[in-house]
Amino acid sequence: MDPNRVRVPDFREKKRRGDKIAMLTAYDATMARLLDAAGVDALLVGDSLGTVIMGQETTLSVTLDVMVHHTRAVSRGARRALVVADMPFLTFQVSVPDAVRNAGRLLQEGGAAAVKLEGGRPIVDVVKRLVDIGVPVMGHLGLRPQSVHQAGGYRKQATDPSAVDALLADAASLEDAGAFSIVLESIPADVARQVTSTVTVPTIGIGAGPDCDGQILVSYDMLGLFDEFVPPFVKQYARLAETVLAAAEDYAADVREGRFPLSPTPPVGAKPQR
Ligand code: KIV
Repeated sequence: MDPNRVRVPDFREKKRRGDKIAMLTAYDATMARLLDAAGVDALLVGDSLGTVIMGQETTLSVTLDVMVHHTRAVSRGARRALVVADMPFLTFQVSVPDAVRNAGRLLQEGGAAAVKLEGGRPIVDVVKRLVDIGVPVMGHLGLRPQSVHQAGGYRKQATDPSAVDALLADAASLEDAGAFSIVLESIPADVARQVTSTVTVPTIGIGAGPDCDGQILVSYDMLGLFDEFVPPFVKQYARLAETVLAAAEDYAADVREGRFPLSPTPPVGAKPQR
């Protein structure tokens, strides 16, 4: 194993030292290799692939087989970054043995080092069992896209005092159950700061302000590839959608106008060019 590999205990150590954790999502080996080479600490194979890769409106139809498939690809591309795989809807809520088997596939077949589960107190028995048998768990609180229908849409969470109390109780229960970090999605910055100062495990924010112990973004959002909807908290570090569109337009025009391929057909026996 690469000695520079980021490991689960490094997360807690980073929080102790005050080093921020940089995470991005990844869904395939090529992108994983690039994001890894850029020094990103951890790659999440998010079930957001349901929307950004599969073109669906929600993440609910993402299956375990799909997650295993993409996790295997990301694991092949990542050398240093910790690979975390999302457990999709209904793969951990039905029973503890079911969750153990399903998480096991993400590690055994997908090569992930950890799994992420959406939810708090209602799933602590699952989190505890996974941790007890050696499966590192990342929690996910605040906006939980797998509960989009119950939430009535992708809205900011923990906006009233009772919801803040519930969130703090969920975070404490995940920490007690052994989760090694907790994603906080779409909650007010002051609430994220409160959670971050309350738990000893690192919080990873997305739309949760600057005071979490780390940040995560959906890579397709951050790279400006998924441009159908850009969440307000996203910073686009590139505009790859425009680049891809322009490149594909140029290519199609070149083919149609006879400008590509540039050279005459190579003589028989010549090495094929890519
Ligand atoms: O599925 C996903 O990409 C996620 C992140 C947004 C945290 O859960």
